[in-house]
Amino acid sequence: MRKKIVAGNWKMNLLLDEAEKLNASIDETLSKGNFRCDVYHFIPFIYLKEAIDNSKHVQIGAQNGHPEKNGAYTGEISIHQLAHMGTQAILIGHSERRQLFNETNDFLKAKVNTAIAEQLTVFFCCGESLEQRESEDYEQIVINQLKSALFHLPEEDFRKVIIAYEPIWAIGTGKTASPEQANAMHISIRAAIADAYGNSVAETTSILYGGSCKPSNAQELLTQSDIDGGLIGGASLKPEDFMSIISTYQ
Ligand code: PGA
Repeated sequence: MRKKIVAGNWKMNLLLDEAEKLNASIDETLSKGNFRCDVYHFIPFIYLKEAIDNSKHVQIGAQNGHPEKNGAYTGEISIHQLAHMGTQAILIGHSERRQLFNETNDFLKAKVNTAIAEQLTVFFCCGESLEQRESEDYEQIVINQLKSALFHLPEEDFRKVIIAYEPIWAIGTGKTASPEQANAMHISIRAAIADAYGNSVAETTSILYGGSCKPSNAQELLTQSDIDGGLIGGASLKPEDFMSIISTYQ
């Protein structure tokens, strides 16, 4: 049985009081119900400490982190600093980091290595652009992202990684991959994991879908055979919407 996970990616949104309220509201609702999934919030750095100290049911993650332990990197925050503060997880390879901040596979690989060494749970994102989708080898493009930044890990470390498949053309666009399209890619990703690590690892790796997942489509997407949860952007900013998505696994 694979672990089901619903994770909110707040991106660069919310002011301090809004962030505190949203995290507290989800944490409290989770305390009252019986949900068969793990819930994470990936939140701006400046809100991490408060959220870590006050969350009992939501696991708190960072949206980014620098692989070097410390040094002359003005404006950066190291994965080591995050881990030391109690951060439980980190997003690596989100398409916005790849595209807007030119993060390369080599840099992502360095982050993966540091995050694993610091015992953070790695949520590794992959996905193709619209242009790539229209080419024939879009599945291979996504699998190459995994090969170049993730598949070097020894099996015991890879087992700790969660994968999020996020077609770039579906992120924040309102366009969602159909459940069949998403599931087909998840099956291909799982097959690639089986090639690299064997069937038993592939069968236990959680692969989340992300990209305009919302209450109206969550049920159908998140119950596909190979979709083990969601990485939710826009819809994670409203407690009712995020809870409605989490309730898929009630
Ligand atoms: P979205 O974002 O749900 O707003 O499309 C998903 C993500 O980028 O993780």
